[in-house]
Amino acid sequence: MAVMAAVAIALATRSTPLVAALSVSGALKHEALAGARRVECLPASPVCYVAAQSGGPDGLGGVAVISVQDTSAPRLIGTTPPNQDQLRGASGIAIAPATRGRAVYVAAASASALAIVDVTDDAKPKLLGATNDTDTLNGACAVAATNVVPNFAYVAACGADAVVVVDTTDFANPAVVTRVPLSGAVDVTVAPMHSVQAAVLRASIPPVARRRRMDAAVRGIGKSGTSAAAAAAAAAAAASSNTPAREEIPVGDALVYVASGHGMRATVLKVYGEGKLLTRLGSLKDTARLDDVSSVASSVVSSSRGVFALYTTSVCKGGNVIAINVTDPMNLRVPNMGEMHAFGGFGYPALQGAKHVAVYGDVAYVAGSAKGTVAAVDAGGLVADDVAEDELGVIDEGLAALDGLGMDAAEVLEGVTALAVASEGAALVAIVGKVAGAQEGDESVPGAFVLLE
Ligand SMILES: *[C@@H]1O[C@H](CO)[C@@H](O)[C@H](O)[C@H]1NC(C)=O
Ligand SMILES: *[C@@H]1O[C@H](CO)[C@@H](O)[C@H](O)[C@H]1NC(C)=O
Repeated sequence: MAVMAAVAIALATRSTPLVAALSVSGALKHEALAGARRVECLPASPVCYVAAQSGGPDGLGGVAVISVQDTSAPRLIGTTPPNQDQLRGASGIAIAPATRGRAVYVAAASASALAIVDVTDDAKPKLLGATNDTDTLNGACAVAATNVVPNFAYVAACGADAVVVVDTTDFANPAVVTRVPLSGAVDVTVAPMHSVQAAVLRASIPPVARRRRMDAAVRGIGKSGTSAAAAAAAAAAAASSNTPAREEIPVGDALVYVASGHGMRATVLKVYGEGKLLTRLGSLKDTARLDDVSSVASSVVSSSRGVFALYTTSVCKGGNVIAINVTDPMNLRVPNMGEMHAFGGFGYPALQGAKHVAVYGDVAYVAGSAKGTVAAVDAGGLVADDVAEDELGVIDEGLAALDGLGMDAAEVLEGVTALAVASEGAALVAIVGKVAGAQEGDESVPGAFVLLE
């Protein structure tokens, strides 16, 4: 594909723009996409799933399934049925590990729920089960999953200031098992632990120091249906035994990365106990650089310079991508690479209002909501070389596809809320947002789905 060829050349020489230009290949406008908040796409088949806060068939929130088979004409092929209380305000979405079958996890903010939707038949997604709790899962806004710990989902509960572990072993009866309080938690990602990170954890920190640093905040809360007393006993038991011993920090486990907006913080938690427990490893608070941090990419970037988690903030420098060095998960650092990268990130106009970032190989795609841009940033170079502004690939052509649908390209892109890489081996990016005129929370205006290549 032309774009990938351009990427390969840019990486080899670093003298030409990384991605010359992104262009719109196709677009879709639909009421089912109203308030689109997140999009995830299957790596090996041309299907994307959108969590639409005020979408679905009844405008109360739901999941929309979109076929991207024909890249010039993305098609809505299914939505969850109407009157699904547990999908109200659908905000976050994660594809369940393939070994668990065809399902998506949905964080539903208005329902304060984590719902599981069967997508075996893309035309007829159906609710399998859900757990709701106006305390623990209040304002559930983001969810993450990984095949390393296939039986659990990790939820950012925006209204509860916490990251919550949900046991999804039985799709019909998901159950909350643990929560970690984290002020301002707005986005969460879970990724397999990199071998370098495991080596650092095992080798560099004396067990005593490690134990001292392990946070005691983890506490179990009973599965739904248990009595308050039983829940309290479970919490006490979990609290007293929450410190993992040295041998409990194995390779091949998973780390959870959290963005805490008003907490101005990036945090790394370690999954243990086969996935059901979390312990805090490292946390970085930065009132300037991480002010109102809005998202964390769903995969980490690894290079000879270390392992990095990419965060976006719509405030710092008007919008920025911050690479946090998570090689040592107990000592998070923003690399200081000189003036241009004083903050280990960028301060380019194209990134203004940065809402979300998706990484594919060495390219990070960033939704610059304020300026109506989607920028392609050299993720590999983020901590290496200075990247001049003209090396940022910014969408600037192919907008006729939107005009043809009666959509104002500038305004659609202005409302871009999320993006995902839509197909493996090809730089096809799916983005979602509001269309012209839609206000925050406006339920009457359709949302948009746009494919770029
Ligand atoms: C929460 O779940 C219960 C069933 O467990 C259901 O009756 C109730 O309607 C749900 N509440 C919301 C707000 O979805
Ligand atoms: C990232 O952190 C690791 C371990 O702390 C360190 O060895 C490496 O030099 C750091 N990389 C950068 C670019 O700062």
